[in-house]
Amino acid sequence: MSKPRVLSGIQPTSGSFHLGNYLGAVKQWVELQNTHDAFYCVVDLHALTSSPNPEELRKNTLTSVAQLLALGLDPENCTLFVQSHVVAHNQLAWVMECMTGFGEASRMTQFKDKSAKNGTDRIGVGVFTYPMLMAADILLYQAHQVPVGEDQRQHIELTRDLAGRFNHQFGETFVVPEGFILKEGAKIYDLQDPTSKMSKSAESLSGLIEILDTPQANTKKIKSAVTDTGREVIFDTAEKPGISNLLTIFSALTGRTIADIQNDFVGKGYGDFKGAVAEVVVDYLTPVREKTLELLDDPTHLRTILSDGAAKAEAVANATIKDVYEKIGLIARG
Ligand code: TRP
Repeated sequence: MSKPRVLSGIQPTSGSFHLGNYLGAVKQWVELQNTHDAFYCVVDLHALTSSPNPEELRKNTLTSVAQLLALGLDPENCTLFVQSHVVAHNQLAWVMECMTGFGEASRMTQFKDKSAKNGTDRIGVGVFTYPMLMAADILLYQAHQVPVGEDQRQHIELTRDLAGRFNHQFGETFVVPEGFILKEGAKIYDLQDPTSKMSKSAESLSGLIEILDTPQANTKKIKSAVTDTGREVIFDTAEKPGISNLLTIFSALTGRTIADIQNDFVGKGYGDFKGAVAEVVVDYLTPVREKTLELLDDPTHLRTILSDGAAKAEAVANATIKDVYEKIGLIARG
């Protein structure tokens, strides 16, 4: 039997991924390459919803691709591509928009939150249609599973609804995908505010471990991480969210159990522990950073990888859109 297919996407909205992106998503993407027919997409069209500066968007897109490769995606073993290179995403997105209720789209939390915060006059229609483009990303590839974080659950539900609706109305066309919500265990929190998720929308960058930061910068951030009262290195998310977060990071990057790590620090203080966490992080990220910079030094090579990826993606996507157009009654050009 052929391997089940997975598809996932990541936005190129910053100059570097952070450790939360890696442990919460990309690490699983790397593992899934071996067991699944994996499609991974840098969703530059989605990034347009936050009106990026063109120069920065170009740079961030290539940097995202380089980081994904440096973190372990292997173009021989997965299909890695940029969303805007495969025109069918826009084509299917329109069809999906025509099948989505206005009220249904208005109830999506991301749109509701952003419009409540900024007012509907200050956000683009792209924020409203974002979920239908995401549904198109997934359905074009007939993906069985979509590895995403908890915050994307509602988008997956909508995608499933749209797939079912289309199949019901026009005949079996799409695989109805399963969400594949990534493990909570890998959830990483902000170093300065260990009750909020590590996220690039945090007010300050000082709580964020960025993959492309220098070893010195990351060491400094970890050493100034907020810790808790008391002095023992113990995993206790209620009483010691700061220390627990550092333990999670240590464990995720070394593969050691929390209990085992705790044992090493019996009778030692927070200072020693933070020094050790900094070392683990720097040892892990330094080769990734170097590999990323090396890849960015050869843009021609990167673009070849992307062009091959787009060709593989397009072969699948174009077959789907052809079938969809036919089923909904658009006539083929002679
Ligand atoms: N909305 C996703 C996020 O912000 C990114 C995304 C776009 C995506 N298209 C996708 C994720 C398709 C999975 C599948 O994280």
